Parts: sequence; structure tokens; C-alpha cells
Amino acid sequence: MDKLVIRGNRHLTGKVSISGAKNAVLPIMAATLLTDGVSHIKRVPRLRDTKTMIRLLDIIGAATDLNDDILTIDTTTVNNPEAPYDLVKTMRASFYVLGPLVAKFGTARVSQPGGCAWGPRPIDLHLKGLEKLGAEVTLAGGYITAKADRLQGNKINFEISSVGATGNIVMAAVLAEGETVIENAAREPEIVQLCQFLNLMGAEINGVGTDVLTINGVEELSPRDIAVIPDRIEAGTFMIAGAMLGDITVCDIIPEHLLAVIDRLEETGAGISQGDDWIRVKQLEPIKPVDVTTAVYPGFPTDLQAQWVALMGLSDGTAVVTDTIYNDRFSHIPELSRLGAKIKLENNVAVIYGRDELQGAPVMSTDIRASASLILAGLAAQGVTEVSRIYHIDRGYEQIEEKFRQLGAVIDRRSE
Ligand code: EPU
Repeated sequence: MDKLVIRGNRHLTGKVSISGAKNAVLPIMAATLLTDGVSHIKRVPRLRDTKTMIRLLDIIGAATDLNDDILTIDTTTVNNPEAPYDLVKTMRASFYVLGPLVAKFGTARVSQPGGCAWGPRPIDLHLKGLEKLGAEVTLAGGYITAKADRLQGNKINFEISSVGATGNIVMAAVLAEGETVIENAAREPEIVQLCQFLNLMGAEINGVGTDVLTINGVEELSPRDIAVIPDRIEAGTFMIAGAMLGDITVCDIIPEHLLAVIDRLEETGAGISQGDDWIRVKQLEPIKPVDVTTAVYPGFPTDLQAQWVALMGLSDGTAVVTDTIYNDRFSHIPELSRLGAKIKLENNVAVIYGRDELQGAPVMSTDIRASASLILAGLAAQGVTEVSRIYHIDRGYEQIEEKFRQLGAVIDRRSE
């Protein structure tokens, strides 16, 4: 197992180029299962999660080839509509193959994902949605089997806005017979890009980017090529790094995906300027305390909550951070406390009492975003911080230590 060793308290400056979005590429890869033929996906980040999805597509019978950042997927040989436990347990997003497989092949068997590091993450909305489209869904031996001769369009109202359930049901509905209306659909940019990709393939999805999607089912879809949108969460992580640690220009991004983050950062007193595809964030002292409450897009993303807590650990007052999407997503807090951060957690509300400085210590990462927050705190802390179990960070950040090193950080990967 690798760890990151960080010598902190360095001023970071320069430009960093942001990779393709993990949470956009994963459903796009699953969507290729709806076609027969060869698709090319560009700007694919080299992450553990993209590699896991490639392995899953291989098991399902597709032929895949990743060359630089271009992934070629040939689905003509798909013959095994099944996602085994071994893969699903390492990446919940494997569940994205359920909708396309049942729509295209009339049957799919996908392992039920377990909980995750920060608590239960249900899949009831995915399953109810598929049943509404006429699939027969059964659970046995830890696997979900969905079957349907041809899915039938229907009206689906999600009681909670869910990125994954929206993606799964849209991918199922595009090949269903008749019209499907999804109310309270997710509007995250990653779902918007999935819908755009499906429309490029011949689907008829209206209302893309709104919370009501109307889908007219079609008989078949054709393979197409696409370039993945930039990762707004990786971008937001480096923007927070700019506000904490120096002067960082985050490049090759779509600034409008980050409006809530820009607003909150401005309130902290950070210096912000931006162009068409970049944002520069400069640390200006003091860092003012700013409360955030996570919300669905375009609100402040839960995937930046942990990093915000790290930033607030160095503010000159008290900030309240509330996660309304995941009530239990706070495993970074005991670890940040080991670096000297003063945080009180009650249910889904963290109260952070800012300090002048943090002190390096050994800490352990527990999930992707918690790891990012520990790296930020370690980069800001006095002395040495060792972040262990960094396989979590490799799931969602491409070459993170390399990118920080280019900004002037002293950060090395070592085997434990
Ligand atoms: N929910 C249900 N039932 C369901 C599905 C979701 O109750 O069937 C609830 C969840 O428990 C949660 C809320 O709905 O409270 C929203 O969850 P959502 O379904 O939107 O999450 P997800 O699709 O499982 C994706 C991202 C997450 C990100 C969330 C929220 C991918 C692969 N994952 O998860 O990303 O936190 O949306 O934006 O897109 C990450 O990248 O580190 C990550 C965890």
C-alpha cells in the first residue's frame, strides 16, 4: 500500500491542468453498452475507477483499448450481461451498467453494492425506476437480476434527486417503447453530458439540463465519439488549494460548473479572476470563515465538503459546514483533528474553529474526498504529514502528487 509523504507549509504557485471528470466518464462508458460497434471516448482520466470500469466492460464482453487518454470500446462482442461482486464492491458506479444492459439485452445481473466508508448508500430509486419501466427485478444471493422483453416508457418521479438513479433510468428509457418522463431528475453537469452523448447516439431526450427529462424511446442507438468534460471536483479541490496555500490557476475547465464554489471562495476573501476556461485563486489573509451547506447542482457539491472543512480549519473564525446529501460523510474530521484542526461534529453539521496553523502528523485516508482534504491540510501544516491508504485518492484524482509538485509542493509517494 502506498502513502504520501508531505513536507508542508510551502507557498504553491502556478498552473494546473484539470483532467476529464470521473463522474462523467463512468456513465458514458456504461452507455456504450447500448450500441453495437466502436465508440471513442477522449480525455479519459487514468484513475483506479476508470480502470475498474474498463475491467467490468471487458468481463461483460466488450473489447477495450486505452491509449493515452483515448478509450476505444467495441461492444459488438458483448455476451455476458453481468457485473460481479468483486468489481462492484470496489466501485459503486459499476451499478451504472444495470440500466443499459437490461434495455439492450433484456436481462442483467449486477451485484448489489454494499455500504461505503461513510454509511449506507441505497439503490432503491434505481430499482423502483426500472420496475416502473416494466422490468422484473429480483434480489438473490447478493445479486440483482432485472429482466424485460422490452422496457415500456412511464412517468417516474424521484422523491430524492439522485445522480446515479437518473443516469441509470435515462440509459434504460432511451431504448424503451414509448415516452418516459423523469421528474426531479438530477441536473449535475455529468448527467447533462450523459444525456448529450445519448442524444448524439440517436436517443431522443428533451429537457436536458432541467429537472424534467422527457425521453421518447427509439429502436436502436449508434456508437459515437465524445470528449469528457473537465472534472469540476478536481478543479474545485485545486481552487481551494489556491485559497489555502498560494496562487493557483486552474486550467482547462468550465468555470460555470463551479459558480457556487467561486461565490463561497470570494466570501473567504480569496482573490479570484477567471477567463473562458480557467480560474485563478489567490490566498489573501486572513481567510474569513464561510458557512456552506451542500446541495444538488448548482449548489455547493458534497464532493467538496471535506476540502472546505480543511480550508475552514485555517480561517480566522468559526464556520459551519452542513452536508445535506450524505449525513455521515465526515470520516475526515477525526483525521483532520490529528493535524490540530478544531472541529465539533453533531449529526451532519461540522462546526470548525479556525486555527493559525496546523501541525503535521500521520493520518489515514478513508475515501476519495476525505483523502483530498487531508492532502490539503498536510500541505498547509507545519512539518511532515504522512497520508496512508492513498489508494482511495487514486480512485478519483489523476497524478495528484505530480500536479501538486508542479505547483511547488514537496510531496512524495512511498510504499508502506
Ligand atoms: N439515494 C437514495 N436512493 C437511491 C440513490 C440515492 O436514497 O437509490 C440518496 C443517497 O443516499 C443520497 C442522495 O440520494 O443521499 C444522492 O445520491 P446520488 O444517487 O446522487 O449519489 P450517487 O449517484 O451514488 C454520485 C457521485 C458521488 C457524489 C454524488 C452526489 C458518481 C459515480 N458518484 O453518487 O461522487 O457524491 O453523486 O453528488 O457519480 C465521489 O466522486 O467521490 C462521489 C462519491
